[in-house]
Amino acid sequence: MKKDFLSILDINKEELFEILSLAERLKRQKRAGVPHELLRGMTLAMIFEKSSTRTHISFEVGMNELGGHALFLNAKDLQIGRGEEIRDTARVASRYVSAVMIRANRHSTIEELAENATIPVINGLSDNEHPCQLLADILTVKEHFGEIRDLRVAWVGDGNNVCNSLVLSSALTGMDITVASPGGYEVSPAVVQRAVSLGGKVKTVKTPEEAVKDTHILFTDTWVSMGDEAERAKRIADFQGFTVDSRLLRLASPDARVLHCLPAHRGEEITGDVIDGQQSLVWDEAENRLHAQKALLVKLLKK
Ligand code: CP
Ligand code: NVA
Repeated sequence: MKKDFLSILDINKEELFEILSLAERLKRQKRAGVPHELLRGMTLAMIFEKSSTRTHISFEVGMNELGGHALFLNAKDLQIGRGEEIRDTARVASRYVSAVMIRANRHSTIEELAENATIPVINGLSDNEHPCQLLADILTVKEHFGEIRDLRVAWVGDGNNVCNSLVLSSALTGMDITVASPGGYEVSPAVVQRAVSLGGKVKTVKTPEEAVKDTHILFTDTWVSMGDEAERAKRIADFQGFTVDSRLLRLASPDARVLHCLPAHRGEEITGDVIDGQQSLVWDEAENRLHAQKALLVKLLKK
């Protein structure tokens, strides 16, 4: 049966660690110039309803390096942009390509695509989750810290799609997650409950200072996600006090590292000295999108 990756919880612990070790191996092979064309002849369709730099480039380059091909499809240029039903696109794409990666405005679009496709569907970001980002993030943390279980992680900022995937991932990684968001922007209690019911260690606090105390990993993300632009001014006002700056970082563990999925807004959710500083793993994190997704594609597609 085909396997989809719509949520970080669509894989179990064992599969997560298999993906991470394969990603590490593919990363070494790429660096050593060792060919690793595990998906020769396969095609990935990439449908985008929203902008992208990292997701687009890393999936396209990843498929090429695996000996396959990736097809960039702007949703506006497809017939779905003119009202063709997503289920018909799913059926037709299943006849042409080996898998579909889709970045959609609504998670339900991705679910409908997956339900009607006979090939694997990958969530390249929705309003609910950004599971591919988490694969790269966990890989980055594992590379840096070695052992990931019981690491303390703080999320400072919007309880958004990336935050949801991070919180849910706690059930797989055993990392201990504390989320601080301003009132009205908290992570969904249902998401926290789901993570906890599956063994995740998650708590929410009111202030960034409480969240980051002695933390090993400090995560943040934009205050204005794609689709939130109309609320920009209100959001900037509401998130004051939630900037990840050097003062906040000093409250974390001395060996703490900072992650941000990018794109970043220096002076808003993070300061330039932090994102460009010694404690930032942000550029390795961005690179790891490539290696982690290559491993995911192999896991989903290799017979
Ligand atoms: N982090 C991330 O998904 O970046 P893009 O929006 O550029 O793909
Ligand atoms: N939360 C951000 C992540 C971008 C990669 C957004 O949804 O726009």
